[in-house]
Amino acid sequence: MRIVKLHNWPILMDDCCSLLNQEWPRSKTARIHSLSKSSDYFPMCLCLIDDGDNNSIIKLETNSNGDPLDKPIGQLIGHVKVSRGSLEGEAYIESLIICKSRRGQGLGSQFMVSIEQFIKSIGFTSITLHTIDASNFYSKLGYSLITTIEALGPASVNIIAGETKTQSKFNQNTNQLIVTNHQQGTSSKLSIDCPLPPPPPSNPITNRPVIKQEKIVMNKRLT
Ligand SMILES: CC(C)(COP(=O)(O)OP(=O)(O)OC[C@H]1O[C@@H](n2cnc3c(N)ncnc32)[C@H](O)[C@@H]1OP(=O)(O)O)[C@@H](O)C(=O)NCCC(=O)NCCS
Repeated sequence: MRIVKLHNWPILMDDCCSLLNQEWPRSKTARIHSLSKSSDYFPMCLCLIDDGDNNSIIKLETNSNGDPLDKPIGQLIGHVKVSRGSLEGEAYIESLIICKSRRGQGLGSQFMVSIEQFIKSIGFTSITLHTIDASNFYSKLGYSLITTIEALGPASVNIIAGETKTQSKFNQNTNQLIVTNHQQGTSSKLSIDCPLPPPPPSNPITNRPVIKQEKIVMNKRLT
């Protein structure tokens, strides 16, 4: 097993994109755009590679050797993104993932321990992260809860749209436009002389379910 920097191994870009998109679907273009920002100066995307040596010690590759574009380097099984945090000495990690078929074997924990050693070795003194449902995983690794943030998912747009939503319908038999205000539960009729143009397509956002999420902020001091 080893950990490599994505920007040293661009050949991994597509696999990394698929791995992340299986868990957090996003357009490939947006995902590649975000991953391609990986650099030695942060944000830095680190990839866990199974190179088949059955060695359970996960090492961080310090520099790439050979031509990264030519050399097949093993199977990508994990990823994490490391950025600078907003506080002095603080690193921020996100998008930690282990591929589905390899979860529950201790790899996520080993990966995190190696990442922490690396982060500490380059001068950071703490790590902060947000999680929605993996707080138990992180608390087992020594992370403490800092605070929780209540956030609305995509459906918050739904609520906002619903507040102001009015709907117009033209009745061809009576030549009347019926305007319904869903918020107030009222409707009014307007008589008009000519038919209206067709309405615009309905907004798919309004069909999304309401999601209320609680984000948990956790932190660990690197001693
Ligand atoms: C979270 C994740 C990286 C853990 O990787 P893993 O290799 O399965 O974890 P490990 O096998 O090292 O698990 C270590 C311990 O954490 C627990 N754990 C693992 N995933 C957990 C989760 N999502 N929530 C709570 N506890 C979890 C395990 O049960 C295990 O407990 P044990 O030591 O008592 O048996 C992996 O499940 C994953 O990729 N999940 C999807 C993406 C995700 O949620 N990432 C976190 C974003 S903040």
